[in-house]
Amino acid sequence: KKVVLAYSGGLDTSVILRWLQEEYGCEVVTFTADIGQGEELEPARAKAQAAGVKEIYIDDLCEEFVSDFVFPMFRANALYEGEYLLGTSIARPLIAKRLIEIAAETGADAIAHGATGKGNDQVRFELTAYALNPDIKIIAPWREWDLLSRDKLMAYAERHGIAVEMKRDGTKSPYSMDANLLHISYEGYELEDPWVEPSPEMWRWTVAPEQAPDHPTTIEIGFEHGDPVAIDGRRLSPAKLLAELNRIGGANGIGRTDIVENRYVGMKSRGCYETPGGTILLKAHRAIESLTLDREAAHLKDELMPRYASLVYNGYWFSPERQMLQAAIDETQKVVNGEVRLKLYKGNVIVVGRKSESNSLFDAAIATFEEDAGAYNQGDATGFIRLNALRLRVAARKRG
Ligand code: ARG
Ligand code: SIN
Repeated sequence: KKVVLAYSGGLDTSVILRWLQEEYGCEVVTFTADIGQGEELEPARAKAQAAGVKEIYIDDLCEEFVSDFVFPMFRANALYEGEYLLGTSIARPLIAKRLIEIAAETGADAIAHGATGKGNDQVRFELTAYALNPDIKIIAPWREWDLLSRDKLMAYAERHGIAVEMKRDGTKSPYSMDANLLHISYEGYELEDPWVEPSPEMWRWTVAPEQAPDHPTTIEIGFEHGDPVAIDGRRLSPAKLLAELNRIGGANGIGRTDIVENRYVGMKSRGCYETPGGTILLKAHRAIESLTLDREAAHLKDELMPRYASLVYNGYWFSPERQMLQAAIDETQKVVNGEVRLKLYKGNVIVVGRKSESNSLFDAAIATFEEDAGAYNQGDATGFIRLNALRLRVAARKRG
């Protein structure tokens, strides 16, 4: 028996690794993904080796993550419950997909992950796994073992000689965190009281807006078929582009959110997020769409968006309904080409210009407040309004 474990190298998954070997007596294959979480991955290799793991996978998935997951999602302008840019939600299907691929490569019949039984992540990992391999066995130690407190986990680690990693500054973050190229998230600890403001040291990627520079930073983002391809005329790969937006956004205090969200499993949860690049990108994408998309296509897209966002949040990336919506969304993006100019200033993203040589539907000759040389007949509006008002007038007469 063999199991592929999604392994970060941190305390939780190190304990899981040991627990799988002991409890299930199975051979463990570890998989560690680089999706831009900004942590060194070689320590994970060393730890897996020390635990006797023979097949160790460490994959750089940064480009695939951004081009095949993040960018398609941004074509939809996806926001969950009006606020959450889905940074963790969108990464889970990729990790689960890779777990399934590695299981096939190594002849494993099971996968394991370190998500708890109370959250969304377990659902996302497992829905993806089943969608890609209906016969896969899934082990979720958090739902089985009795190491349910921090203390019990530490005691188990100590008993088995598992090192408890400290951060470079000697501290261990008290929050439950998850980071990738799109965001970093914080949950738990002081955040468990929704009234309590997070301590300033919690935030890692962004400066506080009040400490951001007193002068705006102006950038231009180029779009092709709805995807960003360049910053200030410089073409960048998807992962490099998002990393660059994170850097510029972080320096200007952009992308902090503090929300209470509804988890799929039924509970409300308070979380804080830093999504600097994503926050800029959403605004910029909407701006280029405003110029290039037909009104009705744009409005329909906006109606579908909350559905799409819920699908991603709830773990249905690999589902017929998400793929169906994606096809419709992607169809609209053929014309979403051009440039957006933005000012970044103390936590704000301000659109100051947009243009599209090839696909702008904006017609100054029609929209002008000056004389329009016959492109638009103001007299037409009389009948337009009268017919639209007909039923309102009938009802008003009836009311008397
Ligand atoms: N609440 C967010 C979501 O469901 C973030 C989850 C963070 N996950 C974690 N393992 N810390 O997408
Ligand atoms: C977890 O419970 O493992 C993290 C939070 C979540 O999945 O929502």
